[in-house]
Amino acid sequence: MDKQHILSATQFSRTELELILDRSREMEAILLGGGSKMCVGKILGALFYEPSTRTRLSFETAMLRLGGEVISETDVTFSSQTKGEVMEDTIRIVGGYADVIAIRTKTKGEAKLAAHYSPVPVLNGGDGAGEHPTQALLDLYTIAKHHRIGEEPLKVAFVGDLKYGRTVHSLAQVLRHFEGIEVSFVSPEVIQIPAEYRKTDDQIFHELSDEVITESDVIYVTRMQKERFDDMEQFQEVKNAFIFDAEMVDRMKPGCSILHPLPRVNEIRQEVDALPQAKYFEQAQNGVPVRMALIAEVLGV
Ligand code: CP
Repeated sequence: MDKQHILSATQFSRTELELILDRSREMEAILLGGGSKMCVGKILGALFYEPSTRTRLSFETAMLRLGGEVISETDVTFSSQTKGEVMEDTIRIVGGYADVIAIRTKTKGEAKLAAHYSPVPVLNGGDGAGEHPTQALLDLYTIAKHHRIGEEPLKVAFVGDLKYGRTVHSLAQVLRHFEGIEVSFVSPEVIQIPAEYRKTDDQIFHELSDEVITESDVIYVTRMQKERFDDMEQFQEVKNAFIFDAEMVDRMKPGCSILHPLPRVNEIRQEVDALPQAKYFEQAQNGVPVRMALIAEVLGV
C-alpha cells in the first residue's frame, strides 16, 4: 500500500484487508510497549473541514505514537479558503509540508479531488455523505476481535440513517470480501441504503423486527445525520425511529456486538453502555492502532 491514497472502501482487496488487520494487531502490541519511532521525521497534515473528535484525534494520536509529528487545520474560518483559495491549492501546499494528509470534507467526492492534486498520500476521513473507509477498517478490526469473520456465518444488521451514514457505505463494501456474511439494512424508507452500496441478496427492512434483534451477531447503529437533511420536517419524523435500550439488548444474543461509529445522540441509551454487547467505546479506541497501521503502510515504513 506504499504511497497509496485511501479514498474508498471499494479499493481494498481481501489481501490488503488481512494485511491491515495483521498490522493493526502489531500496532496494538507496540502501543502496549509505549509506542514506536517508526515515523520519526514524518509529518501528518490533518485537514478537517467538518467537525470530528474521533477521526482527527485518533489520526493525530496514531502519528504521535509512531514518533512522527502533526500539523492541522481544523476550522475553515482560519483557513485561507475563506480568502478564496480553492481546496486544490491548499492540498498542493500542505502536500509540500506533510508526508501524508488525513482529510474530512463536506461534500462527497472531495477526498478524491484532493488526492488528484496531492503529492503525498491522502487518507479520506469522511467525505460528506459519501464514504469513511478508514472507519470501515477499524469497524472490521473490532468485528474480527469478537467474531470469527469469514470462518463462521455472521448476520450483520445496519440500523439507522443509512442514506447519509457514510460509515455504513464503507463497511458494507468491506464485508463483501468475507464469506458467510448476511447483511440487513434497517431504516425508514426515506433514508434507506442507496442502491450503489447494496447487493441484490441483502435484506432491506423499514422496521426493526424481532428477528433482527434476536438473531443478529453484529448490530451496527448509526445516528440520524441531522446536518445532511434538506427537509427538517423529514428529520423530525425519523429522528426517534430506533432507540436501543437495555430491554432490547436483553433480547439479543449474548454474543451479539453492538457497534456505533459515534457520536451518538439518543439512538443508544446510556444504560446500554455497561452491557457486554456494547462494543462502541472499544471500537473508537481501535481507531488508534488501525490508523497507525494505515499511516505506516502508506508511508512504506
Ligand atoms: N466516527 C467518526 O467519524 O467520529 P468523528 O465524527 O468524531 O470523527
